Amino acid sequence: MLKYLRTYKCKRCDVLMAKIISLVNQKGGVGKTTTSINLAASLGKIGKKTLLIDLDPQGNASTSLGINKGSLKYCTYDVIMGKCDIKDAIIKTRFDKLYILPATIALSKIDKELSRIEEANSDFNVNEKLKLALNGIKDTFEYVIIDCPPSLGASVKNALSASNAAIIVVQCEYLPLEGLSQVLNTIITVKNENNQDLAVEGVLLTLFDPRTNMSFEVAEEVRKYFGNKTFNTIIPRSIRVAEAPSHGLPIYEYDPLGRATEAYFNLAKEVIERDGN
Ligand SMILES: Nc1ncnc2c1ncn2[C@@H]1O[C@H](COP(=O)(O)OP(=O)(O)O)[C@@H](O)[C@H]1O
Ligand SMILES: [Mg+2]
Repeated sequence: MLKYLRTYKCKRCDVLMAKIISLVNQKGGVGKTTTSINLAASLGKIGKKTLLIDLDPQGNASTSLGINKGSLKYCTYDVIMGKCDIKDAIIKTRFDKLYILPATIALSKIDKELSRIEEANSDFNVNEKLKLALNGIKDTFEYVIIDCPPSLGASVKNALSASNAAIIVVQCEYLPLEGLSQVLNTIITVKNENNQDLAVEGVLLTLFDPRTNMSFEVAEEVRKYFGNKTFNTIIPRSIRVAEAPSHGLPIYEYDPLGRATEAYFNLAKEVIERDGN
């Protein structure tokens, strides 16, 4: 059990601070949001104080945890645009050690607004706005999980600039290697331009269905290409996972004994074990 108690430290100053992980893939429907919710919830349940940042204008991570978006005073958009203090926008969920920075449709204009700011002021690095906001709370959480939208635009670059790690989410339903090289290029660009600390934490296979040959082919191809960067844990396709959001519950509450619950806990443990590597 001791190995799960390790805490992430800043490489340069030795201060305890949150490990910040972005879940990325410019393709929609691959399981980024579902994984973000259940990874964050599982980390919380294991005892790690975790913040889930909803960075998708659809706000599915927020509604899936029972957040009523109509009642929100502030959301991720306000935080990135500097319209409020991040502490005033974070909400404690009713689940163990799990907090959320919720998103609303306001986020849909963020990429345009950030490029307008950049055009007007070329000295200003618009990709670092989220990073600056997170400085205010970095030492109060152990993990920050960012659910990225299906793009490689300015908001995703903000997420990657603020992160120590990226998890590339890959669905086991079609051979994805061409799209993956675009994600990798974006990660490398952000690493070179904004954030030397950024690393690919791993590649996560989702929506695995053992009844299809395609699932095995994708898993084999990804492992061939990414080697031990691929997480050992594979997230199975499970109808219970798809149902849980409409009940406002993470999978460990909705289907405590299910295969998918076990898989998300295993993923959380792998993420914790990879710390410092
Ligand atoms: N492991 C899973 N088993 C079954 N359905 C899943 C699983 N993961 C995701 N889904 C479903 O697939 C769809 C896309 O997932 P989502 O997490 O929203 O992807 P993304 O955020 O990459 O667009 C959703 O309807 C979700 O409920
Ligand atoms: Mg999503």
